[in-house]
Amino acid sequence: MIDDALGDRSLVVASNREPYVHDYDDGEPTVERPTGGLVTALDGVVAETGGTWVAWGSGDADFDPAVAPNGRVDLPPEVATGDSDDRPGYTLSRLDLPRRLVENYYYGYSNQVLWPICHLEADPVNVAPDFAPAYREANRRFAERICDADPDVVWFQDYHLALAPGDVREAIPDARLVHFWHVPWPTPEFFEICPQATELLRGLLGNDAVGFHLDRYAANFRECVARFVPDAALTPAGEIRYEGRTVETYASPIGVDTDRVAANAASDAAEHYWERVAARYDLPADRSIVLGVDRLDYTKGIVERLDALSYLLEQNPGLVGEFTYVQKGTRTRDRIPAYRRYYDDVRARINELDRVHGTEDWTPAIYIEEGIDDRELAGLYRHADVAVVSSRRDGMNLVAKEFVAAQGATAADTPGVLVLSRFVGAAEALCPAALPVNPYDVSGFASTIGEALGMDADERRERIGTMQAAVREQDIDAWLAAQKQVLTGTASVVADD
Ligand code: G6P
Repeated sequence: MIDDALGDRSLVVASNREPYVHDYDDGEPTVERPTGGLVTALDGVVAETGGTWVAWGSGDADFDPAVAPNGRVDLPPEVATGDSDDRPGYTLSRLDLPRRLVENYYYGYSNQVLWPICHLEADPVNVAPDFAPAYREANRRFAERICDADPDVVWFQDYHLALAPGDVREAIPDARLVHFWHVPWPTPEFFEICPQATELLRGLLGNDAVGFHLDRYAANFRECVARFVPDAALTPAGEIRYEGRTVETYASPIGVDTDRVAANAASDAAEHYWERVAARYDLPADRSIVLGVDRLDYTKGIVERLDALSYLLEQNPGLVGEFTYVQKGTRTRDRIPAYRRYYDDVRARINELDRVHGTEDWTPAIYIEEGIDDRELAGLYRHADVAVVSSRRDGMNLVAKEFVAAQGATAADTPGVLVLSRFVGAAEALCPAALPVNPYDVSGFASTIGEALGMDADERRERIGTMQAAVREQDIDAWLAAQKQVLTGTASVVADD
């Protein structure tokens, strides 16, 4: 238990996204509990300690100015999350950021500068003049709110908060500060396109430890420090000496709650959802299903995947009518033009695939946009013969791990095959049992999907067995246990590569 290890030290978790969304639009507040794996897991950790979680009180990220005319979502600044003695909860401390700040900090700097740079995508990078000052200001507000809680230990999440650790370090020099960076860290050659490269690194070096999913991201971070922070020094053990302190970097691959995903896959809700989908789209029981589940983000390689499917059908007319590609899409960061364009591109490619390759009684690709819960999603995983995760770049990608954990819900199920981009963090543990692809290589990608579709049941079982062992070994509990050690300073965490 983390509270044992922390003793009476108080913990504050800080993330851009809040773990609970309260909707106050229609009078009585309604609460949406977290469903995502990470938020649920972190929620449990903070609840154990009775600490504080500081987050942007976004309500709905794409909030409607008509509902919040002053550009602010009307949320109480603090709510208690516990609902019983068994679940004591913690304080959720919400930052009510003004609309302009959100535009420039979240939609601007975080998602038009840092997100593309960390994913090695130069084209979408947009360094508008208002973005960096807003990022600084939002980070300052986060830091101030964190300090209000008088923490002994602070756990920062992700790329929205690179500067806040520096501010908190200045205000509370003795606090233990740990940051987990959930996206890749780029090479120095790429990171240097960021005009604030040095300032961001200095902010992060306010931490005692900075964690990444993979050793190579941690190594890239250290190389960037060596290149862009002249007064920082790397020790032979891989630690960073900075302003009289030692900063450690570490690698710790995040995972999923495998039991929960398996239970979701075996649930009636999963089965009923699949039956509804099969009926709605007229999918016969013997039709092979190829599945994609993505936030509609240009890093996810969805267009590349659709091109590969098109090429596969062009080269193999025998596959006509043999499979249906099911794309579950979630719209995301819609106020950013690159995301709106990507959404339009994906929809257009799906229509084109259907127009060019469809027949009177066969539609090659279907698109599902409705919001579905974890059990319904597990229903899609369970009935897929092939899942394709084809990110151009991805820190970890938990869809790949959830798909693996959802296979074999009953002994009668033949598990599905995972086709996985080499460029996602999850490939390190899952390939070659998952069939690796380079999403940029249309013909290689197409033939790998073809191979997956033709794979016999024995090989599918053997591969999924290997992948399930890997996913269990690096599950969410293993990740949390590692983070607890770092947070409490009970283990040396220097990345070893
Ligand atoms: C990635 C990031 C998270 C982020 C999530 C959803 O996984 O690493 O920090 O919360 O995408 O994106 P959003 O912009 O909707 O929070």
